Amino acid sequence: MSEPRHAALAFLDTCRARVDAELDRQLTAQGASDRLQSAMRYSVLGGGKRIRPALCLAAAEAVGVTAEIALRPACALELIHAYSLIHDDLPAMDNDDLRRGRPTVHIAYDEATAILAGDALQTLAFELLAGADRPAPTQRIALIQELAAASGPQGMVGGQAIDLASVGKPLSLAELEKMHRHKTGALICASVRLGALCAPDLADHDLSGLTAYARAIGLAFQVQDDLLDIEGQTDVIGKPQGSDQARAKPTYPALLGVEGARQHLRDLLAAAREGLAGFGPEADPLRAMADYVVTRTH
Ligand code: IPE
Ligand code: IPE
Ligand code: MG
Ligand code: MG
Ligand code: MG
Repeated sequence: MSEPRHAALAFLDTCRARVDAELDRQLTAQGASDRLQSAMRYSVLGGGKRIRPALCLAAAEAVGVTAEIALRPACALELIHAYSLIHDDLPAMDNDDLRRGRPTVHIAYDEATAILAGDALQTLAFELLAGADRPAPTQRIALIQELAAASGPQGMVGGQAIDLASVGKPLSLAELEKMHRHKTGALICASVRLGALCAPDLADHDLSGLTAYARAIGLAFQVQDDLLDIEGQTDVIGKPQGSDQARAKPTYPALLGVEGARQHLRDLLAAAREGLAGFGPEADPLRAMADYVVTRTH
């Protein structure tokens, strides 16, 4: 295994252990007895690579913030992500029945419970951020603002709306990029920025370098996701391979071809690395994560 990939996997393992323990603790505090709570736990604690929390913790490390302080924001990001996946899989959206190698929430439970579990995870994310002891209140407000903007109509939800409106339509490259930047890029960008915004005295040029990095890998992440829909195997990716093609979804490989999409990934990786040029070894976890995002197999 290549060195950067090995470094990224080791970093992801460490993050996953921390984040999963905290998510379990937070979900337990919500109670675990009824159907809704069970569906929330099923969705959040049933696997997942934890890329967004890992990016948050890696960005925190790059700006000298401890993992302890960035842990709540990291968990909030994963809760928003889990909610987005539950709703993305619903019959009214992608109508997928497999996620992370298991039945999707609306299959394992029912559609109404899946909708409510998604709603509940979304509000829990903001409750977690608002109720943290650290960072300081003004910074917490900035984190809440950032996460809300990235999740809402100017971010992920807006991107999902463009996605649904684009089924079967030929999009231009610019339109496709806009869709991807919203539906996936915005939350990944926010993952990096949330970690950075935990720093009390963040320099503007550091934030702009990290943002350039984050925008590049945010787009790269969805380009790789589109490629995996074509080239991956259902038992490895844990979701139905070919789902985009079956539903005539606009994707990068559909527009540029597989080789064109791969070239785009290489360009985005170079842009991500360039964003980190002003950082030293403290940004090595971010560098490793960029390599991982473009080479991941699931
Ligand atoms: C899948 O995200 C959904 C997209 C935004 C493309 P991930 O690939 O991060 O999913 P998990 O959390 O690891 O299952
Ligand atoms: C999902 O994109 C994006 C969000 C959930 C916001 P996809 O529909 O491509 O994700 P997968 O392939 O189902 O994981
Ligand atoms: Mg979708
Ligand atoms: Mg989907
Ligand atoms: Mg996909």
